[in-house]
Amino acid sequence: MNSKCLVIGDLNTDLIISDLNGYPELGKEILAKNYFFTIGGSGGIFTAVLSNLGIQTSIISKIGNDYFGNFLFTEIKRYGVDTDSIIIQDGEETGLTVSLSYEKGKSQISKLDLIKSMKLDEITIDNFENLRHVHFSSYYMMDSLKKSYVELIKKIKKKFYNITFSLDTNDDPEDKWGEEIYDTIKNIDILFLNKKEVLKISNENKVQGAIEKLSKFVDKVVVKMGKEGYLAKINKKYFKGECINKLNKNFKDGTGAGDNFNAGFIYGFLNNFKPNKTLEFANFCGEKSIEFFGGLGPVERFRQLKELIKR
Ligand SMILES: Nc1ncnc2c1ncn2[C@@H]1O[C@H](COP(=O)(O)OP(=O)(O)OP(=O)(O)O)[C@@H](O)[C@H]1O
Ligand SMILES: [Mg+2]
Repeated sequence: MNSKCLVIGDLNTDLIISDLNGYPELGKEILAKNYFFTIGGSGGIFTAVLSNLGIQTSIISKIGNDYFGNFLFTEIKRYGVDTDSIIIQDGEETGLTVSLSYEKGKSQISKLDLIKSMKLDEITIDNFENLRHVHFSSYYMMDSLKKSYVELIKKIKKKFYNITFSLDTNDDPEDKWGEEIYDTIKNIDILFLNKKEVLKISNENKVQGAIEKLSKFVDKVVVKMGKEGYLAKINKKYFKGECINKLNKNFKDGTGAGDNFNAGFIYGFLNNFKPNKTLEFANFCGEKSIEFFGGLGPVERFRQLKELIKR
């Protein structure tokens, strides 16, 4: 396989329901004006965006041999993803997230047992020849892999000497934020978190203090701050950027904004952009993603992002 980037993490279907007339309450029905069924999971969205930007990317995740699994397989191929490493498990249900999407945020219901069951010995990198980067998505979701990241990184480094690693923890559904994550982050190059995640993991109360603490373990700490933009420390230097669209003009749905940001960053990183250009492009990818339902939007939308890269 020729992929330059490999994603190891979550891939599931997303049912996004928006323009709702209120919040759910037991025994009541609320109405929505829109729904959208698409590729989901932080890993799935990241993989599809990066592939569509032009970096050949593969994903190792588990899906079922069912209706949703077949949908995901066909759909992710359409974005240019190399699907050969996706594990298809007979007799198990593909992961699903139902997301009630509001401008202020989202309420999600997920069934992700199959993804959570992926173990170290199910991950094989034997077929890859030219890998340059590995991205781990949704650390806290990967129940059966959590303890094995350090071993997995060592295994990959044995075959690909100069390879780099990034990690986005996303939320901890158990709200534990245990210290064992430090064992993993000591072994990676780029850490992506949002504002809540960086404060919880570092046990600090200000973003800058949190970045300062984590940057003792990772060279590149990037914090996504929703419509406020980002704050990052890259190779000992601080960078701060704002969103252009602070008023959320054309807002449709915030699903996957962080994964679009991450994919934009890795695009810049693998193309040797300077840190400020890398972050600016990542932020632009994040901002643009809120104008579409789901984490991806139409394949054509990437034309606009690619135009920006050319300038
Ligand atoms: N409401 C918004 N308006 C404009 N841009 C936004 C908005 N929300 C997010 N973004 C853009 O997307 C980026 C990442 O979003 P966010 O901070 O929500 O990350 P995240 O929490 O990791 O997202 P995710 O829900 O995908 O995990 C921001 O840095 C910004 O560029
Ligand atoms: Mg996130």
